[in-house]
Amino acid sequence: MACDSAQEGSSIVVRPARTVRGVVRIPGDKSISHRYAMLAAISEGTSLFHNFSAARDCASTLDCMRKLGCEWKRLDDGVIEVQGLGARLNSPEEALDCGNSGSTMRMLSGILAGQAFTSHLLGDESLSRRPMARIITPLSEMGAAIEAADGGRPPLKIHGGPLKAIHYRPEVASAQVKSCVLFAGLYAEGETVVQEPIRTRDHGEIALRAFGVEVERQGNASRIVGGQRLRAIEAHVPGDLSSAAFFLCAAALFPGSQINLPGILMNPTRARLLDILVQMGLKLSITHLEEHEGELVGSIEARGGDWTGAVIAGGDAAALIDEIPVLAAAAPYCSGGLEVRDGKELRVKESDRIAAVAANLRKMGAEVEERPDGMRIPGGQHLHGAELDSFGDHRIAMAFAVAALRAEGESRILGADAAAVSYPAFFEELAGVTTG
Ligand code: S3P
Repeated sequence: MACDSAQEGSSIVVRPARTVRGVVRIPGDKSISHRYAMLAAISEGTSLFHNFSAARDCASTLDCMRKLGCEWKRLDDGVIEVQGLGARLNSPEEALDCGNSGSTMRMLSGILAGQAFTSHLLGDESLSRRPMARIITPLSEMGAAIEAADGGRPPLKIHGGPLKAIHYRPEVASAQVKSCVLFAGLYAEGETVVQEPIRTRDHGEIALRAFGVEVERQGNASRIVGGQRLRAIEAHVPGDLSSAAFFLCAAALFPGSQINLPGILMNPTRARLLDILVQMGLKLSITHLEEHEGELVGSIEARGGDWTGAVIAGGDAAALIDEIPVLAAAAPYCSGGLEVRDGKELRVKESDRIAAVAANLRKMGAEVEERPDGMRIPGGQHLHGAELDSFGDHRIAMAFAVAALRAEGESRILGADAAAVSYPAFFEELAGVTTG
């Protein structure tokens, strides 16, 4: 076993692997699970979700929904039942703790802006550093009064009330902002439009439609008319492609490896990862394509071959925002290296992901050029094992477990338990498919 799942404290030891082989059942997509939980709470009837995300972040969303009066229960592993309250939630008696989850805070704010009460939202240390002006600006324009800490950071106090529709052009390409404004649009009088600078993931629009809401999409604009009612649904959440990315990159590191990932989300606004991996030499075959509640799902078989290089820039930086850490961690081993441009959003994620990737790669002996909006990592490098840091960021913890598989000597990842924020069973699953 190349990855030692016996964690000491919250650190984990990862030993070099010879290959990666096997089948991994990836838990439900985090982005979709958040949206399903929020929309189920404001719909009429009882919703049922299969393969709901196991992520700690989605537990934060469910916890907030309960404080807002929504009853839900886990029926089975990955199956949850949510009792909708309809559009009007109950005034919470305590603060809504969003934990580490920017998605929870940003998207839920859209729903809270339309409620006839005041809510307090707070988060952990990492979330407390993250920018919220991006949602405060449009929601204030719609009529909500929002108080925040200095620099538009959490905690937030949202005084909800009647909202008016707006035509909003966000400066940052963010699906969280788009969903936030569309959710608020449900409570506004008239038609709310979000015109994105770059097309971002469209799970908000797809989920709204699944719950019976009409959302129109023209080019990069999404439109919603307020006052529509949501009806409960039963849905199967597809496997999270951003979690699958760690296994795909691990397979890419070893010629002759083979990994099978059934039931993975193939939504075109998320699947740019697959193009890049193919371009970099991973051999992919996608089978069993199906649609679930408007979301495309398929099974992936990946085989390692040559591992070349890529440039990620422009719209690709937004499309691959969650996968760049693992692509970058695996990049020194490819022949052509990786260049990331236009990715300054990486600096305001759960950690500063440009700085975190650069610091860990350097500890492994890699050469990396850090830039304000990205990085350049030359290919063809030999890395050694090292003591690495998760920086409290789930994707950094998992990305460097992957990088450590090809290093010489063992690595220790401090703060590895951060992985549970999106993927609690990650290290066990990785250990199960790596051979030392
Ligand atoms: C998400 C969108 C992305 C992503 C995050 C989840 C979503 O954030 O990084 O992990 O579910 O909409 P931004 O849209 O803010 O870039």
